[in-house]
Amino acid sequence: MSTAFDHTFDTLIDRTGTGSLKWDDMERIFGPVPQNAIPLWVADMDFHAPEAVQNAVKDVAAQGIYGYPAESSAPREAAATWLADRHGWAPGKESLVTVPGVVPGMALLIRELTAPGDGVAVQPPVYPPLFDCVRAAGRRVVENPLVETDGRWGMDLGGLEGIFRGGVRLLLLCSPHNPVGRVWTRDELSALADLCQRYGVMVVADEIHHDLVLPGHTHTVFASLPQCQPDRVVTCVSASKSFNLGGLPHAYVVATDGALRQRIAHAVVGRGLAHGDLFGMVAQEAAHRHGAPWLDALRMYIADNAAMLQDRLHSHLPWVRMATLEGTYLAWLDCRASGMDETTMMRRLVAAGVVPSGGRFFGTGGEGHLRVNLATPRTRLSAAIARMIVGLA
Ligand SMILES: Cc1ncc(COP(=O)(O)O)c(C=O)c1O
Repeated sequence: MSTAFDHTFDTLIDRTGTGSLKWDDMERIFGPVPQNAIPLWVADMDFHAPEAVQNAVKDVAAQGIYGYPAESSAPREAAATWLADRHGWAPGKESLVTVPGVVPGMALLIRELTAPGDGVAVQPPVYPPLFDCVRAAGRRVVENPLVETDGRWGMDLGGLEGIFRGGVRLLLLCSPHNPVGRVWTRDELSALADLCQRYGVMVVADEIHHDLVLPGHTHTVFASLPQCQPDRVVTCVSASKSFNLGGLPHAYVVATDGALRQRIAHAVVGRGLAHGDLFGMVAQEAAHRHGAPWLDALRMYIADNAAMLQDRLHSHLPWVRMATLEGTYLAWLDCRASGMDETTMMRRLVAAGVVPSGGRFFGTGGEGHLRVNLATPRTRLSAAIARMIVGLA
């Protein structure tokens, strides 16, 4: 697959010394790493943002005055139009409440929608703040681990029903799912919605990866399903993952029920989270208005990177099982057949000069897996794969 935008993603950019968590904090997180180690861990891309986004940020920077931004509806309007055009869901801009990030939004929603001691369901292996935020709020994490069949992960709806019967107030849905790379199908989500409705379980859907769906797959907004009652579902979205804007925090909590939205907006003010980030706001507006061609080219590039990883593993480490990548730019590798424990495996990889995320970080079911960030130029990924082959052989 080739696109007019390939050259953008092929450019090797030296990010060392730029204050990047992914590049400059490797030693702090993983201990001593060889010079020129390649980081494939945190979900951050080694690509420039679309030019329209860079220009919007530069225009604001050039003003030289960085006071509180006005409560403009333009960014919300751009985000609502994006949701409608791209995802076939039209909640209307008035349904979007601005928050400083998806994680702060989730942390606030957990506190707002449940009481201390309530059970909150999560489906590990999963992005760790989903369970960390529950614990930090004094709620109970109730796990319903995902199940894997022939390299494809799924939700265990029987298990979920069991824990719902035992008493759960809220489910945190990760869709598409980080780290297993699933784009949940409409049928899967419909069955989940039926179950939540039957047991009166509210859902907070973390859909931050909604745009990062590989060709051939379609993201279904959970809240758009007919079974979902507007006062029982809240959706968290942001352009930050799609366009690599993690350092400019900005996100939306979408609630189509007016009373629920009022409650959330009130909690945002009450927790001191109402003042948005000026740069995050303009960057996301520009991304939503002008970023679609860049994003489509990116999705192709990631698909090709995933295919390269799969091929090389197949030839050199056939015992590594890569989960079918449907969404996100994060490959999930089952390395349990290595016979090494995860600590040894990570130590060998780091020594070989490549730094993925260890699966243990993602909770139950993650041990012995690796999460590999594919959002890097192909030549660098190729070099990283060569090092992985050395480290795991
Ligand atoms: C599933 C998921 N949710 C949330 C986030 C982070 O959201 P934010 O940076 O807006 O807090 C990430 C980042 O990788 C993620 O993978």
